[in-house]
Amino acid sequence: MPSKVRIIGGTPLQGKIRISGAKNAALPLMTASLLTDKPLTLSNVPNLADINSMAELLTQFGVSISSDKVEQVYTFKAETIQSTLAPYDIVNKMRASILVLGPLVARCGQAKVSLPGGCAIGTRPVDIHLKGLRDLGAEIEISEGYIIARAPSGLVGTSITMPLISVTGTENLMMAACLAKGETRLINAAREPEVIDLANCLIGMGAQIQGAGTDTITIQGVDSLNEHTHQVIPDRIETGTYAMASIITGGSLELTHTSLELIQSLSGVLHQAGIELQATENGIFVPAPSETIQGIDIMTEPFPGFATDLQAQVMALMAVCNGASMITETIFENRFMHVPELCRMGANITVHGASALVRGVKNLNGAPVMATDLRASVCLVLAALAARGETTISRVYHLDRGYERVEDKLRNCGATIERIDTI
Ligand code: EPZ
Repeated sequence: MPSKVRIIGGTPLQGKIRISGAKNAALPLMTASLLTDKPLTLSNVPNLADINSMAELLTQFGVSISSDKVEQVYTFKAETIQSTLAPYDIVNKMRASILVLGPLVARCGQAKVSLPGGCAIGTRPVDIHLKGLRDLGAEIEISEGYIIARAPSGLVGTSITMPLISVTGTENLMMAACLAKGETRLINAAREPEVIDLANCLIGMGAQIQGAGTDTITIQGVDSLNEHTHQVIPDRIETGTYAMASIITGGSLELTHTSLELIQSLSGVLHQAGIELQATENGIFVPAPSETIQGIDIMTEPFPGFATDLQAQVMALMAVCNGASMITETIFENRFMHVPELCRMGANITVHGASALVRGVKNLNGAPVMATDLRASVCLVLAALAARGETTISRVYHLDRGYERVEDKLRNCGATIERIDTI
């Protein structure tokens, strides 16, 4: 599997990019199939490595999956669950596997799920997930790297205050509460669009949920859930990424099958920087910058704040701004690994704790660089598209986890980009 990408920079992107379904919506939606013995059909599912990993894990439990990858439609049927073991070798590949924990405990009264290791961007603890399940009455034990959860007489609804806003923590507990006895209130819940999309799907399956998208979600438990078909929302991170790819190359792109509402915070930052994104009937038009964009200070925050998953990409954009930008990462403790790689391309960035001071330079220059995590890898693609000369990016398997057919989408808009075999 070729694991390098070569890019010759300097060509303004022009044309149209179709945005795929959201990876971070599709993953929890897939695990929702465990909550019922009836079929769950999902459309607009992105064709990504992480989706394949989650499908592999669900198959381990005995879920039958039929998929039409061309139409991007999957049907999941957990008629009977033969196993509730989520093994280390799969969970370690994809941390979002922790999302099977809540549904398995709620449906089967037990689960043995490997503790997801940390990852490049941080230690990524799951204490909020485990505390919430304990609050719902599950017995939780950690043994030999596994979470062993038991709730033989089912879960009982209660009020859960999450000490930190956790996206998958909110999703895991919301799914578990759907089958608990009585009412559950999730306080300090995450408000991301992917949480709302999951709630809408669960409601379509017969769950009783109010308040998704606010900081308090109330769930009335039901005995069982029904068959449902749901379309995955567009990927707001992919949307923001390609909008910034357009701007950093001085081009203009039309992004389809998405909406401006999904990237309001980014749109506000770009407005301050001098770029006005425009809503179109089926998406967003990104106009060509009339002059060099202005440096803007940015702080990542839970939704509706600026998304941490767009932090690396906006840093690449600010690397060639007029002036300077202070970028502060408040969500993860180690999400600046793209900084040394950008500096190899001529960026002027200094990190001070959780903040990076980016002083804009006139041009970046192509160089061999290495991807360290999913969003850092695409930040390097953006920098390479704008840089003078050739850039090769190694370890691009990170890219395939979150960006569907990234070379095709960019090449169709004029980029010189190809995947090369490592020698
Ligand atoms: C989700 O991760 C996303 N992944 C991440 O996207 C995204 O960066 C993150 O939310 C923040 O928006 C999926 O949705 C599959 P959190 P998640 O729990 O849920 C701490 C990508 O690039 N925390 O909201 O794991 C945690 O350490 C990925 O697509 C605890 O302390 O993130 C972090 O500092 C990367 N204990 C903060 O909360 C817990 O039990 C927010 O994490 C859980 C989280």
